Amino acid sequence: MARKTTYRIRQMKKKGKKIVMLTAYDAPSAQILSECGVDMILVGDSVGNALLGYESTVPVTLDDVIHHSAAVARAKPNSLIVGDMPFMSYKVSEEQALENCALMLQEGGAEAVKIEGAGREVDIVRAVVDSGIPVMGHIGLTPQSIFEVGGYRVQGRTAKQTKAMVKQAQALEEAGAFSIVIELVPSETARVITETIGIPTIGIGAGPHCDGQVLVLHDMLGLFQDFKPKFVKRYANIREVIQTAVKEYSAEVREGKFPDADYSFEMTEEETGRLYGRTKPA
Ligand code: KIV
Repeated sequence: MARKTTYRIRQMKKKGKKIVMLTAYDAPSAQILSECGVDMILVGDSVGNALLGYESTVPVTLDDVIHHSAAVARAKPNSLIVGDMPFMSYKVSEEQALENCALMLQEGGAEAVKIEGAGREVDIVRAVVDSGIPVMGHIGLTPQSIFEVGGYRVQGRTAKQTKAMVKQAQALEEAGAFSIVIELVPSETARVITETIGIPTIGIGAGPHCDGQVLVLHDMLGLFQDFKPKFVKRYANIREVIQTAVKEYSAEVREGKFPDADYSFEMTEEETGRLYGRTKPA
């Protein structure tokens, strides 16, 4: 697969080709996703829940995401790498946003950034795009604002809310975003947005009408099982696979069956002789 660029991602909407996106936070996962032809890798602040044991994405820092993005970038995936700008790393001022988005590319090896929100964030998106950094927007449920939103609830249920969300998407497109994540909205809301704007929409919990879909890898593999939102389809139960392997390993260690000769290094007879000749008591 040739390397994916923001240009090619935009072209996919024009050609009616669905866009596949998944999260990854480490090199082996990024390698696997690239080998499977995944179009975009999101180094999401969901790393906070999936890997770091936080209850929300709020505690995740810029350094956390850069650290994981750099690991993903070292795998040299063909998928486009999108670094998720974490809580408060872009809202303080335009200067702060520009500096931190630049770090995501320079130190994190990302090729684009994702910014949550479409209120005063629109001007920030414009400034970041003007500086030459591609931006993916994010509307609907924005988990970094969870304390203000008041819970993980479906957004945009009414006609009024849907119209407001269409305006947000249009503002982000006008500001130069190359695509927009739509999270946790009814399918019809996502359909209206998708049909109204010219850039790709990437849905999560937003039904089938978006131009593409994103899931958190650890959710769809069944690695993270603290809770399962309705929109998560588990394509595997890797947690069970790991448990089976760990239990088998533990039993073999306790029974002295592992490691056997197949997994050990033996000395030659000569080496053994020399060892005992020198060290074995007479
Ligand atoms: O951090 C993340 O993984 C995300 C997705 C849920 C879109 O923002």
